Amino acid sequence: MKLRIASLREPISLEIRHVCVVGLGYVGLPAAAMFAKSGLNVTGVDVDERTVNAVNEGKVLIVEPGLAELVKGQVDAKRLIATLKPIPADAYIIAVPTPFRHDGTHAPDLSYIESAISSIAKSLKAGNLIVLESTSPVGTTAHIIEVLRSARPDLRMPAPEEAIEGDIDFAYSPERVIPGSTTTEIVTNARVIGGVTARGAKRAHDLYKNFVEGDCYITDDKTAEMVKLSENAFRDLNIAFANEISVLCDRFGIDVWEMIELANRHPRVSILSPGPGVGGHCISVDPWFLVAGAPDIARLIRTVREVNDFKPHYVYRTVEEMMQRHPHAHIACLGLSYKPDIDDFRESPALEIALRLNAKWPGRVVAVDPHGKELLERDHRAGALTLVSCSQAFERCGVVVCLVPHQEFRFMEKPDNKEIIDVAGIWAKQASEMHAREAMADVRSWTAA
Ligand SMILES: NC(=O)c1ccc[n+]([C@@H]2O[C@H](COP(=O)([O-])OP(=O)(O)OC[C@H]3O[C@@H](n4cnc5c(N)ncnc54)[C@H](O)[C@@H]3O)[C@@H](O)[C@H]2O)c1
Repeated sequence: MKLRIASLREPISLEIRHVCVVGLGYVGLPAAAMFAKSGLNVTGVDVDERTVNAVNEGKVLIVEPGLAELVKGQVDAKRLIATLKPIPADAYIIAVPTPFRHDGTHAPDLSYIESAISSIAKSLKAGNLIVLESTSPVGTTAHIIEVLRSARPDLRMPAPEEAIEGDIDFAYSPERVIPGSTTTEIVTNARVIGGVTARGAKRAHDLYKNFVEGDCYITDDKTAEMVKLSENAFRDLNIAFANEISVLCDRFGIDVWEMIELANRHPRVSILSPGPGVGGHCISVDPWFLVAGAPDIARLIRTVREVNDFKPHYVYRTVEEMMQRHPHAHIACLGLSYKPDIDDFRESPALEIALRLNAKWPGRVVAVDPHGKELLERDHRAGALTLVSCSQAFERCGVVVCLVPHQEFRFMEKPDNKEIIDVAGIWAKQASEMHAREAMADVRSWTAA
């Protein structure tokens, strides 16, 4: 498609044949591979040389079902290559990290986005489309336009308030995949596409429609940014409810798993499973962006974060109390990742608890995690932990703390003669489901009588 933007300017091409995906992590790499699979030429860019080399060898460094095959297929077909620096392309997808600052403020750290935008600035030409996928505070897409306005004064930026298209189109489109099902969900999930201008929205929509089978909903950039943050704050809220209920049940001497199983028999109640806290790159981070954007009014969202961040301290204190009763015991921590069946340890409350216990009782804490090897490679703090198999852990330890219900643990037999703190409900859930079923059967038999 050729479109004349302004009468005095040369016509520019809006066709997208070559996509540059900046950031080849859990979000960027599957997107790059899917764009390539749809027939586009894709250059994946990452500042990490190991990632770039791995992709070019058709390998992936993260554990994600189906991703390795997908990437290898596209690299072999020569539709996907990886580089350390961006090159000229028709469209740029930005999928770099957006952490918060670890200085106590929880303020968003936009330095990765700013650096990714600066790195593509030189390569930009009129007709390019830039889509931000990183989960970002409201106003970030507008902010990157300002960054580029300074870096490339020769390019005209869009002016949405006056409905004027610029030389570059911009959109914000958040990713909603769940680790473990990324290669399926990236295709089937509904997608929100927030265009800075109508043309930006339309071009981003058409680009994603190359592989997205889910519905794509068009809105503006700020609404799309808010959608993503609200989704994660909503999930944080529901998990916080389960976590607080679990602490209350402990205080009242009630089995939380049985209680939830029974409460969820209400047709309009669906309490989630409690756990050791909330971790990962998203839910434990993104709600802070809302708090930072409006600290005076984001009161519930802040409290929810505090409730979930309290849970690891609570678990630690529970183990501490147990150790007062068994002062010479060794402790086994089952599960370290931030949720079951993945190799992602970012902001993991389970890892935080295990490291804290290990610091308090050095040499007396062991950990079991099916992805422990990957953890040791990636996180220098994990070097302090002794990783063992389950049977070794049960042999050595009198106290067993179940933190993450990995598949490997779910059907494991409960060891005899151990003090068990079942935060993840590995065994407690099995037993409570049985109790609840028995209780319901009893009720039915009484009422039938
Ligand atoms: N992981 C998820 O499940 C998920 C889901 C939805 C949204 N998100 C959001 O997507 C974004 C990316 O998350 P992720 O999980 O893929 O992160 P990640 O850490 O797995 O990957 C990010 C990649 O970006 C690279 N990088 C950093 N700065 C760069 C730069 N200037 N240029 C090029 N590469 C650079 C890193 O080396 C890394 O490989 C974040 O904003 C996150 O909140 C993640």
